[in-house]
Amino acid sequence: MKKVLFVCLGNICRSPLAEALFRKHVEENNLLDKFDCDSCGTAAYHIGAPPDERSVANALENGLAYTHSGRKLTKQDFEEFDYIIAMDDENLSNIQHVNFNNHPHIYKMRKFDMEGLNQDVPDPYYGGAQGFQDVFDILDRATLHLLKEIPTSI
Ligand code: 4NP
Repeated sequence: MKKVLFVCLGNICRSPLAEALFRKHVEENNLLDKFDCDSCGTAAYHIGAPPDERSVANALENGLAYTHSGRKLTKQDFEEFDYIIAMDDENLSNIQHVNFNNHPHIYKMRKFDMEGLNQDVPDPYYGGAQGFQDVFDILDRATLHLLKEIPTSI
C-alpha cells in the first residue's frame, strides 16, 4: 500500500480536489488495494471546513462528487505518507520547513504535468470560475500521470 498526501495552503480548493481526482484514477485502474490518499493544508484557516463550494460545483459539472474535512499538515504526516505532493512553490517551501526527517519523496504536483512542467497549480481562491476549471483540468492530468509514475511493487 502506497500512501499519497496532497498539500495546498487552505486545504479547501486545490488539494482536496487533487485527492478526489487521484482516487478516481485509482478506482478506474482497479488499484484501490494498492493506494490510499489524503489532503491537508499548510495553513490553519479552514480546519474542519468542507471544500470550497465553487470547487465542488465545478467538479460536479465535470461529473465528480467529493467531500473532505480541512486539516493542517502535521509532523506525523511525514512518517505516515510515502509521497507528499505540493501544489506550488510556496507550499513546497512550507512543507520543507516542517520536514525535519528528510522525507525522500516530496514533489511538486506539476512535476507530473507535461503541459506545464514544474509550474505551480494556480490558487483559484481569489479568481473567477475559469480558474476552477483550469485547476480541475491540471489536476485531472497530473494526478493520472503521478499514479502511473509511482511504482506499485516497492
Ligand atoms: P487552496 O486555496 O490553498 O487551494 O485551498 C486557498 C484557500 C483559502 C485561502 C487561500 C488559498 N485563504 O487565504 O483563506
